[in-house]
Amino acid sequence: MPSFAVAKTFCRELIVKRSSTRETEPDLVMDDPDKVAAYTRAGREDGVMAPVYLFHCAQICEIIKPGDTVLDLGCGPATQLAMIARLNPETHFIGMDLSNEMLDKAGDYIAQQNLSNIEFRQGDITQLVTIADASIDAVMSTVVLHHLPDLKSLGNTFAEIKRVLKPDGGLYLVDFGHLKSEKSIRDFAYQYADRQAELFTLDYLYSLRAAFWPDDFSNLYQKHLSSFGKFYKTFVMPYMMVVKSPARRESDVALQQQLQSLKLNMPKYHQTDLKDLMIFFKLGGLKSKYLN
Ligand SMILES: C[S@@+](CC[C@H](N)C(=O)[O-])C[C@H]1O[C@@H](n2cnc3c(N)ncnc32)[C@H](O)[C@@H]1O
Repeated sequence: MPSFAVAKTFCRELIVKRSSTRETEPDLVMDDPDKVAAYTRAGREDGVMAPVYLFHCAQICEIIKPGDTVLDLGCGPATQLAMIARLNPETHFIGMDLSNEMLDKAGDYIAQQNLSNIEFRQGDITQLVTIADASIDAVMSTVVLHHLPDLKSLGNTFAEIKRVLKPDGGLYLVDFGHLKSEKSIRDFAYQYADRQAELFTLDYLYSLRAAFWPDDFSNLYQKHLSSFGKFYKTFVMPYMMVVKSPARRESDVALQQQLQSLKLNMPKYHQTDLKDLMIFFKLGGLKSKYLN
């Protein structure tokens, strides 16, 4: 978003009262082929989501280690997952999604890249029936939880995460937060409308409308997950919320250099978006160890 628009949305969110309401996603599970294709295209490494993927990739690299088994809840087309798996070849990843359409795209993508450290499972993140108690070293999930229909499902998902994670396990959950005004939601959704497919813009709009309120999300985090990590949100405009455990790996200079070079290879406008995201999270208390 251009800086003036960011400043306007920021001021609006600072002063307005809540007027928007949570509306559940029209597609709880993403299996419409056209929408899956639009989402996949926008997400691939040079798409509009590239800066966001790189930010979360760097965060997730802090909470996983070589030798870990990491569960990705709602992996979708595996753009985020593949980026992390490539940088962590000695870590094993399980990508889970309910949508076979998404899992097909994910399977093709990792085959093209010769990644052998990811397996996929079709499954529901609210009931991790194929995953044993305390068997997972780290759980990650990126922009998925708003697809859940209600707070009960969100609570069930958090309880399942707690059940499957080892006591010293790593955790990184990120999702959209609900903004107070519908105008702010639309400003965010349409900020890149000229650079992306209309279906993707609409998907983003529906996602922001379906986002949970930060206080509801935080209350359920307190109930189930507070022993694993801290809750963060972007400053004043909580358009993103994160639950993150403390770092679990020693500082890794080679990894840091790889992440920095991914950043420097992005077009300038993506680097600007990444910088904005880092600033809003940093002001909310969440720092990036591997990106500056
Ligand atoms: C917006 S996509 C995010 C995909 C990926 N994590 C990313 O960052 O690009 C949300 C994904 O969550 C999946 N999903 C929604 N509800 C689910 C559920 N209850 N169990 C498993 N997957 C679910 C959808 O099918 C979709 O692939």
